[in-house]
Amino acid sequence: MALHLVDHPLIRHKVGLLRQHDISTSHFRTLANEITRLLTYEATKDFETEKKIIKGWAGKVEVDCIKGKKVTVVPILRAGLGMLDGVYDMIPGAKASVVGFYRNEETLEPVQYYVKLAKNIQERMALILDPMLATGGTLNATIKLLKEAGCKSIRGLFLCAAPEGINRILTEHPDVDIYTAAVDEKLNDVGYIIPGLGDAGDKIFG
Ligand code: PRP
Repeated sequence: MALHLVDHPLIRHKVGLLRQHDISTSHFRTLANEITRLLTYEATKDFETEKKIIKGWAGKVEVDCIKGKKVTVVPILRAGLGMLDGVYDMIPGAKASVVGFYRNEETLEPVQYYVKLAKNIQERMALILDPMLATGGTLNATIKLLKEAGCKSIRGLFLCAAPEGINRILTEHPDVDIYTAAVDEKLNDVGYIIPGLGDAGDKIFG
């Protein structure tokens, strides 16, 4: 398992637009969902399929179907909600598991305030959504929570990630895959990603 930097030209272009300091809320949301569709495409490309016979216009035809239980998509409140439609566009049958964390801006530790997981989560792959992976504290807490619930297969989709958070997760959870549209330079001394996107939650919700 590993870090996947999804640096398709469309993604690099859209990340550049996301970084504009005066970007409107509606443009940020649109771009976040467009990038998420592309991340979802990449994060699902090894999904197993199985054959099925259906009735087509000219009689029986063999088609491919995704195998196994539907994935659960795990937006981390709040900002992860800004990526949810992008996943639903690609996987309309995904089951949602919602977790809420905010980061204590002094300690930078995540504080949990909501959890509602999908049924049979132990049989589903989890796709965590969060625009930002900074120190990795929030992602670490979310992964622990999912693993405690029995989830065996976990991937995370991010618009922008800092090396500090990536290294922490790859060390503490080597079984988890990280798909990100950008790997930025560093964290500043108050835990913001540089150059980053600013406060993604505020940009999505206004
Ligand atoms: C941001 C972001 C992540 C977290 C990343 O959320 O969306 O959840 O911080 O930081 P970390 O990797 O250092 O834990 P924030 O606390 O701003 O909450 P919000 O989504 O409600 O705005």
